[in-house]
Amino acid sequence: MAHLLHIDSSAVFEGSVSRELAGAFRRAWSEAHPDGTVSHRDLGATAVPHLDEAGIVSQFLPAEVQSAEQRKAGALRDELVEELLAADALVISAPMYNWNIPSTLKAWIDQVLVAGRTLAFGDAKPLAGRPATLLLSFGGGYTPGAPQAPRNHVEPYLQTVFKDELEMDLVVISAQLTLAGKVPGMEDLVDLAQKSRSDALAAAEERARKAAGALA
Ligand SMILES: Cc1cc2nc3c(=O)[nH]c(=O)nc-3n(C[C@H](O)[C@H](O)[C@H](O)COP(=O)(O)O)c2cc1C
Repeated sequence: MAHLLHIDSSAVFEGSVSRELAGAFRRAWSEAHPDGTVSHRDLGATAVPHLDEAGIVSQFLPAEVQSAEQRKAGALRDELVEELLAADALVISAPMYNWNIPSTLKAWIDQVLVAGRTLAFGDAKPLAGRPATLLLSFGGGYTPGAPQAPRNHVEPYLQTVFKDELEMDLVVISAQLTLAGKVPGMEDLVDLAQKSRSDALAAAEERARKAAGALA
């Protein structure tokens, strides 16, 4: 029985494209895996705290010499790390905010990347090979070759974390041009945006079926 960890990070609930992609993924996952279990962490609804000094120090000090504040911060990191390690598969939905990921998602990543637990010191890579799926939404167009593509700091960063460092089996699916029809100057891009969104929805379902099938 496989366990999925589902993370959402859009601050918007009504009409969120990244949440819509995650919904499509979840439905296809659950159909393929009716006995599977899912944990859902909604960073848009409930952000995790920024990593602070107590949280950093807690990873290096023996429990018996930690202050109450360090123990509390360490316990939160433990909870988030355990939640990630318990997942056979990971799906994260995220919008582009100011050319990067939402700060809520960055805060979660800062909390869960712990050397010797999720990040390897030596050869041991606890999450290596597990399927990770990123479902991204971009207001503009950032596909390779697009004029704005060099300003996409979302994908290179997330690739560094989940593919290069954690060595997860990463697939990235994105809906582009989601602001077409909403902001002036993008009127001609509405059809392209609709196609990008429907392609992304189909790709999210397909990926969910494949990842679930591989874990069945
Ligand atoms: C605070 C904020 C910052 C944004 N910054 C960018 C940006 O830098 N580039 C871009 O293409 N779109 C930007 N957008 C548009 C979002 O990426 C787009 O609306 C996306 O669909 C939001 O995801 P959601 O639909 O899942 O909420 C921004 C939106 C917000 C609310």
